[in-house]
Amino acid sequence: MDESKPFGVEYVPPGKRAKIVDGRVYAGKVTELPPGKAKAIALDKFSIAVFNVNGEFFAIKDACPHAEYPLSKGVVTGDEVTCSSHSWKFNIKSGQCTRGTEDLTIRTFKVVVEGDSLWIVI
Ligand code: FES
Repeated sequence: MDESKPFGVEYVPPGKRAKIVDGRVYAGKVTELPPGKAKAIALDKFSIAVFNVNGEFFAIKDACPHAEYPLSKGVVTGDEVTCSSHSWKFNIKSGQCTRGTEDLTIRTFKVVVEGDSLWIVI
């Protein structure tokens, strides 16, 4: 199995990767992700960044299109995340790049809250 990693993407051992079950991935408890914070969920092929924006949850692919730095490590201001590597900015809700190459949109994922659990729809 090829365990090489692209630039900027952290290595995640196979046992720590989330599994897709019935088209969705468990992303933890609601209480584990307070407003203004983000967390990374690693899958086999890529990672997803989940954000709490004023009590609403959103998810985007966790790789900045500039040089693959994890956006889950960025700075969240309102509904925007600033990449910590070279300061490109993205709207967390739409995935639209708002600073950098503005015609880029990164992939978004629907987040479902069931009880106290977060699920990402793949
Ligand atoms: S890797 Fe995100 S701005 Fe460069």
